[in-house]
Parts: sequence; C-alpha cells; structure tokens
Amino acid sequence: MNPDSYRNRFQKKMSHLSVNHLLGIKNLTKNDIELILSTAQNFKEVINRPIKKVPSLRDITIANLFFENSTRTRLSFELAQKRLSADTINFSASNSSVKKGETLIDTVNNILAMKVDMIVMRHASAGAAVFLSKKVNAKIINAGDGAHEHPTQALLDAFSIQEKLGDLKGKKIVIVGDILHSRVALSNIFCLQKLGAIVKVCGPLTLIPKHIRSLGVEVELDLKKALEWCDVANMLRIQLERQDIKYFPTLREYTMLYGLDKELLDSLSKKIIVMHPGPINRGVEITSDVADSKQSIILDQVENGVAVRMAVMFLLAGRQG
Ligand code: CP
Repeated sequence: MNPDSYRNRFQKKMSHLSVNHLLGIKNLTKNDIELILSTAQNFKEVINRPIKKVPSLRDITIANLFFENSTRTRLSFELAQKRLSADTINFSASNSSVKKGETLIDTVNNILAMKVDMIVMRHASAGAAVFLSKKVNAKIINAGDGAHEHPTQALLDAFSIQEKLGDLKGKKIVIVGDILHSRVALSNIFCLQKLGAIVKVCGPLTLIPKHIRSLGVEVELDLKKALEWCDVANMLRIQLERQDIKYFPTLREYTMLYGLDKELLDSLSKKIIVMHPGPINRGVEITSDVADSKQSIILDQVENGVAVRMAVMFLLAGRQG
C-alpha cells in the first residue's frame, strides 16, 4: 500500500487533532487524547508484527533536539520515527555549537534550513516548546520542558493504565513523591482527569505545590492511606537536579516515609498497579523487589511509549496546518 493511501485510510477513520503542535496535555481535548490512544493501539499491533515498519511518514524529516539528558524518551522517539519510515536527525546540546554560545532559535533555524518538518525537543526551561512553536515554522513536540509538562509520558501512562484496567473513568490514581519539580505529575494530572480518573498526590508537604488543590487534586500526606485508596500508584523520582534548597532532611528519611517496599505493597488490602516513569532510583522511591514485581508495569510503560509516540507524530504530520 502506498504511504498516502495508508495515511488516508487511518485518518478517514480517526479524524484530526485540534492542535498543530504537542506542547502539553493542558491544551488537548478529551477527543484529542482518545484519538492519540486509539491510534497508538493500532500502532502497537503494527510493531508487534514480524515486519514492524510502515511507510506512513516516508516523506517527513524529524529532528530530535535534546538540551537535557534522556534515555527512554529520546530512544523511544527515534525508534518510533524509524518504525514510521521518517528521516531522522539527532542533536544533543552537550556536543553541539550551543557550547560556543549559539541561541536556541539560531540552532533551530539552522536545523530547519536543512528542510526539517518536525522538531521533538527536550529543554530544561519551562515554556521552551511553546516559545519555539511561536518562532519557527515546523511542528513542535514537547519531550519535556523543565518542571512544566511531559505530554508523551502522560499519554503513554494513560495508555498503559487503560491496557490493564480498561476505561479510566472513576479509576483512582495516586502520584507519589516530588510533585513540585515533576513535569510528569502535571501532565499526568491533566491527562488522567480529562479521561475521567480521580487523582491524588502524596509526598512531603514541602514537595507538594501550594495551589495543587485548585487543579481538582486531593493531597494525602500518609503513603499507606494513599495506597489503600488507589487502584494505581505512580512513584516519582526525587528530582535532585531541580532542587535549589533542601526539601527534606535526608534521603533515608524520605525513603522511610514515602518509599514503596514489598512489605508495604503486600500489606495492602488489594493488589494495586505500580508505575514509574523512570529513571528509577532503586532503594529510594521504590525497592527493586517492587520495581520488578508482577504488580509493576514499568517496562510496559516503556514498550507503549513507542506506539504512543508513533501515534503523536503520525497525527501531527497529517494535520492540515
Ligand atoms: N521518563 C523519561 O522521561 O525518561 P528519560 O528522562 O530517560 O527520557
């Protein structure tokens, strides 16, 4: 089947996103999210076939710009692009001319001069993806901007929960840990709520944003109570790299109060699902026996990331801007 008819067949069935870029979950509609998740389901079937590649983005060139470290997101986008037959170029700030003083806009405009259609960008500054979308003529995908949003992580998390529990409406999700510095937490809150789930956050008060309740999120300071309440616990890493002051006395104390170990997991009255966006600090927010347990879907999240990112790029490429 030629790429155009393949794309048209999908899009006739799937319709369009309401946005030209994926900058955050906040500005997606429920329909957008459902469209991405159902498209990802199709792509998950594709990448589990012996021939994992489709020609859908054969005529598209995508640049992956990583101004911050990444393992999962960068490799997952790159693999998703290869599965869609897109042409891909990769940029890491650490070995680029950014080190010689080149600005973000100059860097991106030089890359776009090479006829690039889409930019996937991770940046340490909140708002970097929105800024770029206003300055350059390309589709922008936010792969994480500071402590602001990480939309594809939230989409793959929602996809992974849905795969285990079905419809998210009424499902109870607790996000545990460093909520204050977490882009995963904010994107998850927006995404899960738009899909009808109930979201709580749990962690030391110093790591809970002051106005979090205005997002319709409940706060629970006691981990055991939060875990007894939920269907799913998403355990977050302490983002030491974004912390300018001390938010708790010691990591040991944090682990005692907010770490999830097997004894605590097994003491709960029902079997909950355990998630983690990675990278894990084993023995801090989660012990190895929990991370590697049957209740953990951490590697399912990583697997689903490829299909979800294929869906996002496929849908954005197909939109008439
Ligand atoms: N979950 C996540 O964003 O991981 P990376 O930082 O390795 O991309």
